[in-house]
Amino acid sequence: MSAGLTGRLALVTGAGRGIGAAVVAALAEEGARVVATDLDPAGVEALAATHGGQVTARPLDVTDTDAVEALVDETEKRHGPLDIAVNVAGILRSSDVVDLTDEAWEQTFAVNAGGVLHVSRAAARRMTARGSGSIVTVASNAAGIPRAGLAAYAASKAAAVMFTKCLGLEVAARGVRCNTVSPGSTLTDMQRALWTDDAEASVRRVVEGDLAAHRTGIPLGRIAEPADVADAVVFLVSDRARHITMHDLYVDGGATLRA
Ligand SMILES: NC(=O)c1ccc[n+]([C@@H]2O[C@H](COP(=O)([O-])OP(=O)(O)OC[C@H]3O[C@@H](n4cnc5c(N)ncnc54)[C@H](O)[C@@H]3O)[C@@H](O)[C@H]2O)c1
Repeated sequence: MSAGLTGRLALVTGAGRGIGAAVVAALAEEGARVVATDLDPAGVEALAATHGGQVTARPLDVTDTDAVEALVDETEKRHGPLDIAVNVAGILRSSDVVDLTDEAWEQTFAVNAGGVLHVSRAAARRMTARGSGSIVTVASNAAGIPRAGLAAYAASKAAAVMFTKCLGLEVAARGVRCNTVSPGSTLTDMQRALWTDDAEASVRRVVEGDLAAHRTGIPLGRIAEPADVADAVVFLVSDRARHITMHDLYVDGGATLRA
């Protein structure tokens, strides 16, 4: 089923690798023009080279509110009205709370919550003035269930989810939809950085769960690929989801039992 995004203009953050890169590829496959941004320009430049003129690469640190405003402004001047904004940029710094530094907490919130504010606000101002647009924030299933060692990350993602819902309420009457996609464990560099074992054993532990860590496994029996998350994003930004806003779509193979 086509998502019908031909000619739409999308901005994606954290697009240099992992889920963000998969979102760019999926949007481009559906015909969208994509401005792919990341703190690290190498990945987005490679994506742009792969997709020809359909994908444009731009460096962007989402914690820098002036840089975000300038990038969104430049994007509209060069490419036309922005139809879609996808917040994917995120960081995870694992630590038990008793060892958590103020710096790690602040940096986590600066990217995972502050970055979502900067990009969504810049996009929403322009979209509401035109009466249409769609914003998706990639959060995490950790926002909905306690996880040991992930207090800062989970709290920042919970903030991003509620921020996106409140924004969705404010802009609904002006034709803009705002939703979140909450992935579970997904095969990317962020996930691999959490592994303490070899890849096979680590994936098995994620899929089977870990009772000692109060962590359920994945009922669907596999760890997600970035494309699994990207497909959910594409659906939510498309007109197929035209009556869906303020929704939090879990893409975690059932890992949180949606409890
Ligand atoms: N991989 C998982 O298991 C998983 C699970 C749930 C949620 N998520 C979320 O999905 C999103 C993508 O995760 P991923 O696994 O692809 O991670 P990743 O670490 O592979 O990629 C994250 C990207 O964000 C970029 N980034 C970091 N800080 C930035 C900043 N200040 N400004 C702009 N870009 C910045 C990085 O350069 C990187 O390219 C994140 O928000 C993450 O929290 C991932």
